[in-house]
Amino acid sequence: MQSRLVYYSRTGTTRLLADAISARLVAEEAEITCARYGPGLFGWLRAVRDSLRGVRPEIAFEVRDENTDCLIIGGPVLAGSLAAPVRSYIAQLNHLPDRIGVFLTSGGPPPHPRAEEELRALLGRAPDAMLWLRAADVREGRHMDEVEDFFRELTHS
Ligand SMILES: Cc1cc2nc3c(=O)[nH]c(=O)nc-3n(C[C@H](O)[C@H](O)[C@H](O)COP(=O)(O)O)c2cc1C
Repeated sequence: MQSRLVYYSRTGTTRLLADAISARLVAEEAEITCARYGPGLFGWLRAVRDSLRGVRPEIAFEVRDENTDCLIIGGPVLAGSLAAPVRSYIAQLNHLPDRIGVFLTSGGPPPHPRAEEELRALLGRAPDAMLWLRAADVREGRHMDEVEDFFRELTHS
């Protein structure tokens, strides 16, 4: 199965998880960047405000038709919502592959119903596999079992 993993990470936590997942799935990995949410207070405030308001910011990422068997999308939960750059990415996709996996990192434990609802609305369906992890667990390396479960769900369900 050919897999592609696309993610946004503002402060690096989601990137750590993206690297672990792409190593397990042997997926081609690509990072979305967005200058609007840089480090510092203003970047933080914009990230909160845009996430809450459903903004779709400009992203530095060439969105193409994802001609792959499986697409894995990742990002952080910001202000209870999907990080705005992830929203922009999904909204620009013309075509979705048969298999879709989503992984999200957050400070607090799931559920994050607003993020989940938004995800379903943008994808037009629920993902085939979903992985939620707390930032502290990712940073301390407590995610390998969850990555394995995610891999199984994505490839065997
Ligand atoms: C602006 C901002 C808003 C956040 N809002 C939430 C939130 O509503 N719920 C939550 O559980 N975590 C929240 N977090 C924590 C992040 O989801 C968490 O730290 C995430 O792993 C960051 O991922 P990244 O390092 O890949 O950017 C927030 C963090 C930031 C910076």
